[in-house]
Amino acid sequence: MTMFRTARRTHERGPAPEALRLVKVTRTYGEAESAVTALDGVTLSLARGTFTAVMGPSGSGKSTLLQCAAGLDRPDSGIVMVDGTEMTGGGEAARTRFRRDRIGFVFQQYNLLPTLTVAQNTVLPLRLAR
Ligand SMILES: Nc1ncnc2c1ncn2[C@@H]1O[C@H](COP(=O)(O)OP(=O)(O)O)[C@@H](O)[C@H]1O
Ligand SMILES: [Mg+2]
Repeated sequence: MTMFRTARRTHERGPAPEALRLVKVTRTYGEAESAVTALDGVTLSLARGTFTAVMGPSGSGKSTLLQCAAGLDRPDSGIVMVDGTEMTGGGEAARTRFRRDRIGFVFQQYNLLPTLTVAQNTVLPLRLAR
């Protein structure tokens, strides 16, 4: 798996804070001899205002990485920090609230609500968060 990032920042004063930080994140699927380690102690840091593309062959762990980074999945071990807040701390409900308030995610299969317009789909999290 490879990462490309731009160094462009929206804030030029001082070092940019981290938008995302992963510390020794591990995620294994299955058990015993059928176990697959998709993430094996991933540590990374992305600065605010930068753009990152994660690239790699099918099965290299891109989706697992994004799901753990976005709070859609929970790593077996390690820490995920989004904008200075640890997301791996709380339970399912806390993570759901955090996602709704802080994270935007466009799925490969889109997962849009077909009865809503593009604009309505876009602002739905804001309406749920009031
Ligand atoms: N739900 C799952 N159950 C079992 N194995 C899985 C599951 N999701 C992913 N894997 C395995 O984890 C590895 C990484 O998969 P994935 O994160 O989907 O990679 P990518 O998105 O780069 O194709 C692969 O070996 C895949 O087969
Ligand atoms: Mg994938």
